[in-house]
Amino acid sequence: VAPLKVGIAGLGTVGAEVVRLIETQARVLAGRSGRGIRVVAVTARSKAKKRDIDLRGVEWVKDPVALATHPEVDCFVELMGGAGDPALSAVEAALDAGKSVVTANKALLAKHGIKLAKAAEKHGGALNFEAAVGAAIPVIKTLREGLAGTGIDRVYGILNGTCNYILTRMEQEGLSFAECLKDAQRLGYAEADPSFDVDGHDTAQKLAILASLAFGTKVAQSAVYVEGISSIAPEDLRAAADLGYRVKLLGVAVRTAKGIEQRVHPTMVPKTSSIAQVMGVTNAVTIDGEGIPPITLVGPGAGGAATASAVVADIADVARGIRANPFGRPIAQLRDTTKAPMERH
Ligand code: HSE
Repeated sequence: VAPLKVGIAGLGTVGAEVVRLIETQARVLAGRSGRGIRVVAVTARSKAKKRDIDLRGVEWVKDPVALATHPEVDCFVELMGGAGDPALSAVEAALDAGKSVVTANKALLAKHGIKLAKAAEKHGGALNFEAAVGAAIPVIKTLREGLAGTGIDRVYGILNGTCNYILTRMEQEGLSFAECLKDAQRLGYAEADPSFDVDGHDTAQKLAILASLAFGTKVAQSAVYVEGISSIAPEDLRAAADLGYRVKLLGVAVRTAKGIEQRVHPTMVPKTSSIAQVMGVTNAVTIDGEGIPPITLVGPGAGGAATASAVVADIADVARGIRANPFGRPIAQLRDTTKAPMERH
């Protein structure tokens, strides 16, 4: 069988790690997929940047759209980020050309996910985005495949590694917000514009994607109430600690009689609760299914290696010929999201 030919747009922390994993895990991946996986072409903002990866024999393409429609590319991997162009037009071009797409881009999916899923449906390509939420934690597959036969009442958790890292270090070491954020950026956890992390939008995008999968509704980022952590100081965390609490930035999506309630805000959680034990860059997602006790997935939620792990698994699915409905069911079956009024839980 011919190898799956992959084109990668974006060679930052995640992209470089994807190239490395495809190389080092080649045998395992070929065993699982029944065929090899080969990176044939790439594009990135700077060709000169030092990356420590072997790109011999890999074609450099100038433009993401040209890479997305490159005749040699079967699977287009979008790791540039951002809800607009060039990511949007490149992903659209790849799907319209009938190619499969793997992306980690939650901003793009939260804004244009339905439109893109329609294009995938129409032209037959896969649209895989396990890495968009919770990095290495297989939460998309858990909701879409693992719990396909279970009604979901609620999905909630810690969905932003940067914020949890900041809150953890502020609490444990009394460091300032700005110092912690700088370290999160240095470690490759934060978004290119870290205000997306600290103002809660990154969590909102991920929550909107999870809510769609959980409830069979259309992704609607605008239906999410959002409040971030940028005004929290070490003193606030100390005051919460004195009362027996920790502060966590939570994303919560609940099915109610009036619609889907989706909200993101700092929340005081009892120190003894399991969610309070989730520290550092770790993410945790709890899924309350009908008739079964809650399921919690915990793991690394950001960083090059953790994100690349999910990207490569998605590429392996394309190589195997697995094609899921991106949001769990045909687009025509997804209901509109009815925004429920906020209630205290
Ligand atoms: N900036 C994101 C985070 C990256 O900190 O969680 C992973 O989506």
